[in-house]
Amino acid sequence: MFPKDFVWGVASSAYQVEGTDPDDGCGKNVWDEFVRSGRVYEQQTADVSCDHMHRYKEDFALMRLLGIKNYRFSLSWSRILPAGTGKVNGKAVQMYRDMILCMKENGIRPFITMFHWEFPYELFKKGGWLNEDVVEWFGEYAKVVAENFSDLCTDFITINEPQCAIGLGHLNGVHAPGMKYSIPETFQMAHNLMKAHGQAVINLRKYAKQKIRVGYAPTCGVAYPATESADDIAAAKKVYFGFENPMDNWTWNVAWFSDPVFLGEYPKEGLEKFADYLPEITEEDMQLIHQPLDFVGQNIYNGYMIRCGADGDPEYVDRAPGTAKTGTGWPVTPEALYYGIRFLTERYRLPLYITENGMSDLDNISADGQVHDRERITFLDAYLGAVQRAINEGMPVIGYFLWTFLDNFEWAEGYKERFGLVYVDYTTQRRIAKDSAYWYREVMRMNGENLSCNQP
Ligand code: BGC
Repeated sequence: MFPKDFVWGVASSAYQVEGTDPDDGCGKNVWDEFVRSGRVYEQQTADVSCDHMHRYKEDFALMRLLGIKNYRFSLSWSRILPAGTGKVNGKAVQMYRDMILCMKENGIRPFITMFHWEFPYELFKKGGWLNEDVVEWFGEYAKVVAENFSDLCTDFITINEPQCAIGLGHLNGVHAPGMKYSIPETFQMAHNLMKAHGQAVINLRKYAKQKIRVGYAPTCGVAYPATESADDIAAAKKVYFGFENPMDNWTWNVAWFSDPVFLGEYPKEGLEKFADYLPEITEEDMQLIHQPLDFVGQNIYNGYMIRCGADGDPEYVDRAPGTAKTGTGWPVTPEALYYGIRFLTERYRLPLYITENGMSDLDNISADGQVHDRERITFLDAYLGAVQRAINEGMPVIGYFLWTFLDNFEWAEGYKERFGLVYVDYTTQRRIAKDSAYWYREVMRMNGENLSCNQP
């Protein structure tokens, strides 16, 4: 069963929900430019999105009504520091402080993510993640965050999904800034990013006004075994932390982005495979990257099946035709959550939050005015069952943040699909809690007892 103090929550990110205001004093970020380049679905933008920056009071009141007590959200770096460094935008600090106070009035515990992809445009012009100064820049931002919010908030995450920030943004170019850098450049960026993470952890702790907890939230599909045989499990684990992906997709990697942070070293297999592309990596760099952390955060949405082949090597196994998929076309694979938790715990041995999990669909309002998202309930019920299995087997899962509260701007996919527990009508900004929101309220209230896996 879920422990009594299990953290049930929802997650979001600044750019996806906040919207903008002509008087907000905000600096530009790489997504502002990207959306204007016409590469987002139907040329949509996040200029308004859920208009959360003007409607957060109603949104937190609704969260309370829906029994949500923990909220992982992100701050926008260039909203707070319009040029990325230097002058602080007082309006932004005030807005986020008001938001946090409003959360608290509604009984909601804040979990702050410092960086969820909207990199300051002014710093991008100076080379962005490729410029080693980013370590200083991000460190300065961490100091500002600690100084301004750590009296109100004790839980921090430095970076969300470095795999996507570097890979989708700079290797495949499908996300902002929409560039295709050379492979060695992307390795330099990833290395700088992890150093920036380390500097941020140091500064968050150094300037915090009380004792805080700090973590990191990477991602990746999970290799899970085709059967529960020891051989298949070992094969899946090998692939999960392995280096099977082709070079033009190298950033989809768990160990490369997590071993340095949690273990203080790059994985040997990767150092060998990537040898021709790597930047200089010093002992000092590794010390900076390897800061003590309070928890592993992992965003897990789906996985792929692996078995041990006749020759003892791992093999990819196709799923049966007709296997369930989400609106995005992602396979529905609750096993990914159980095995992801298990493999990460065996390797990193820290308390773990699932910092994101959920599904998109083409939700619609029915004739009765409600949104009946049965598929989402089925999905969450199975995935949460997998979390419970991991907990029952003694794995230190301390919380789960459902992605996401409000339907919102899904990056390059615009508003095509809906991930929320709450439907947003983008014309009127009306919110309608979906059936899944009421269902999740019961799950949280009953601490998981009503999940199907607990029914006779
Ligand atoms: C990201 C979110 C995104 C979600 C669904 C994660 O990769 O952190 O920003 O909306 O997945 O695609």
